[in-house]
Amino acid sequence: MTTALPPARQTRRKRRITVAAAADFPPGSRVEVQAGRAVIAVFNVEGEYFALHGRCPHQSAPLSRGRLQGTVICNAATCWETEWAFDGEILVCPGHGMEYHVRSGKAIGYDLQLRTYEVVVEDGHVMLLL
Ligand code: FES
Repeated sequence: MTTALPPARQTRRKRRITVAAAADFPPGSRVEVQAGRAVIAVFNVEGEYFALHGRCPHQSAPLSRGRLQGTVICNAATCWETEWAFDGEILVCPGHGMEYHVRSGKAIGYDLQLRTYEVVVEDGHVMLLL
């Protein structure tokens, strides 16, 4: 009889990259991190940290320079009425204005998903887990 091994993902320890000291990364700020060949944009949104692929898939604008705001939605959940939503959580690409939900990496109005990364705070430092 053979015993199944746990999936490799569950046993592999993730690589940690220090983004900044938490004291130097206040709400409303952002940092761009180079991790190997990957560029990652890390945001502090009212004390919660989010990390996304740092380049817009449209024409590679640096997403760490985008502003955070809300957006207007209109769908079945709003009974097709326009409604302001996700205030402070919508990242606007500085290139041509595509919008991404910073929590999920999903583009607003497009079937597009930015890669997201796990962020933790350890010993007073904001760390990316890759
Ligand atoms: S580069 Fe982001 S929308 Fe064009």
